[in-house]
Amino acid sequence: MRTPQIRPFTRALVAVATATALATSLAATPAATAAEAATCSAEQQISSVQAANFVWNIRESYVNYITGPIARGSLTGEGDITVTGERKDTKIEYRATKAELDGSKLQLTVDGAIHALGHKQADSEDWILDTKLSNLRLTIDGANAALVADVASRPMEDTHTASPVEQRKAVTLVTWTMDRPTIDGEQFTINSTGAGALTEEGRFAFGNFYKAGDEMAPLAVAAVLHKTCPAPEQPEQPDTPETPEQPTNPSQPSNPEQPAATPQLAYSAPQLTADGTHVVTVTGTGFTKEVLASRPPLAGKNAGLYIAFGRFADEWKPSAGAGRDARPTADVKWAVHQEDMQLVGGAARGAVELTPAGTFTAQLQVSKEAADKLADSGNYGIYTYAGGGAVEPSWEMAIPLQFVDATPETPAQPEQPQNQPETSDNSGNTSADKQESSSNGYAAILGVLGLAGVGALLVWIISQTPFAAQILNNLPPLPGLPR
Ligand code: HEM
Repeated sequence: MRTPQIRPFTRALVAVATATALATSLAATPAATAAEAATCSAEQQISSVQAANFVWNIRESYVNYITGPIARGSLTGEGDITVTGERKDTKIEYRATKAELDGSKLQLTVDGAIHALGHKQADSEDWILDTKLSNLRLTIDGANAALVADVASRPMEDTHTASPVEQRKAVTLVTWTMDRPTIDGEQFTINSTGAGALTEEGRFAFGNFYKAGDEMAPLAVAAVLHKTCPAPEQPEQPDTPETPEQPTNPSQPSNPEQPAATPQLAYSAPQLTADGTHVVTVTGTGFTKEVLASRPPLAGKNAGLYIAFGRFADEWKPSAGAGRDARPTADVKWAVHQEDMQLVGGAARGAVELTPAGTFTAQLQVSKEAADKLADSGNYGIYTYAGGGAVEPSWEMAIPLQFVDATPETPAQPEQPQNQPETSDNSGNTSADKQESSSNGYAAILGVLGLAGVGALLVWIISQTPFAAQILNNLPPLPGLPR
């Protein structure tokens, strides 16, 4: 069972935030490609570490001492440890040879050594200060981190004796308190909240010149995560697609044969003319699934969903790996549980309630002009998808919209609510065929309510079969909403 302290850490393994310079340096390491990306929901994924490194500059005064005019020595890295820069700009980077993630515990092992030499003996090749830290192991468990190393050091005897090297194995040198981690895509970073603390046994590595608890350099860790899914329990696409028999009563939004939790959308709008701004009311039902947000402000809580109007790219779905650029959003609401509405900025910033029964009502300002300002191409529509960095394929739905010139006799008609034109067949199937075959398990139209003359209220109800999705971590830009 996870402790509250650990929870943000593990949750954040699928979260997002700023990348640090260290994370950027890891960017060259190939992360999971889209092809091998996970095909399960975020909370089912198992994360492993693909590459990791950390920076720990020992202690500024020590580095100055060793490389400065007192010790006139050097600090060198061997193997997977590199030392760059000089004096106060010295940076010591440790590249993990092995990285293991076990629940909330991240363990990095570094092959290599850091070697400090100082006070050269006048008449020999020996250095009176000769300290080597090797076999480094960094463990981060929730908010606690500790660095363990084998230490080989000449103890300080006097100012002219190079005493025999003394070996000590598995010395815990320094401990830190860690901040909350951040993640950008597969890149995971975590820093200490401040300086580290030298341990009693770690004093030996520094000639016992420091006291236990003395400040040591802070720690910055970056890792590239690899996400995989457990063995699938069900095929990505059901063998027998849920082919709804022609609904005899389209005005009945609920289909008793479908599970209660099948998300459905309905919307009502006045005629959508190409000019002006129209208020479209979107209602949702069946959004009962417990989908967890992976980034603040809702990390670890129900992620809710975005209800957005915009001109989205053909491939816009987070679960298919589409980045935020694919989703230029002219207006958006965020449906979250009532207790979380203030956390996301309240109604003033677009929060609407997602009730415990999984329903919501959101009003969107729909303006063709506004959407056109954001994108030169793409499909006008109302889109829903999981918020807070979560990925939930069954919540990714689209209601395509069409705008008409200001004067026509006929009202604006939504296009068929299938939203992946690139996956539609080219066989000349009719719209109805396409809806029925719905080869990606998507958007079976249950009905159209009230489609009448100019100014008519259009209500479309769509449902969709959840389908397996590919992982992604690009998150939508949310103008006017907290991230
Ligand atoms: C010829 C032998 C040595 C001489 C003359 C010497 C001299 C000094 C001096 C003058 C300082 C004070 C620096 C300052 O506070 O500004 C110092 C600090 C220190 N020495 Fe040595 N030392 C010697 C050997 C060693 C050895 C063998 C070790 C470790 C095994 C060692 C570890 C340290 C450490 C850790 C500091 C504290 C550096 C700091 O953080 O400011 N020294 N030493």
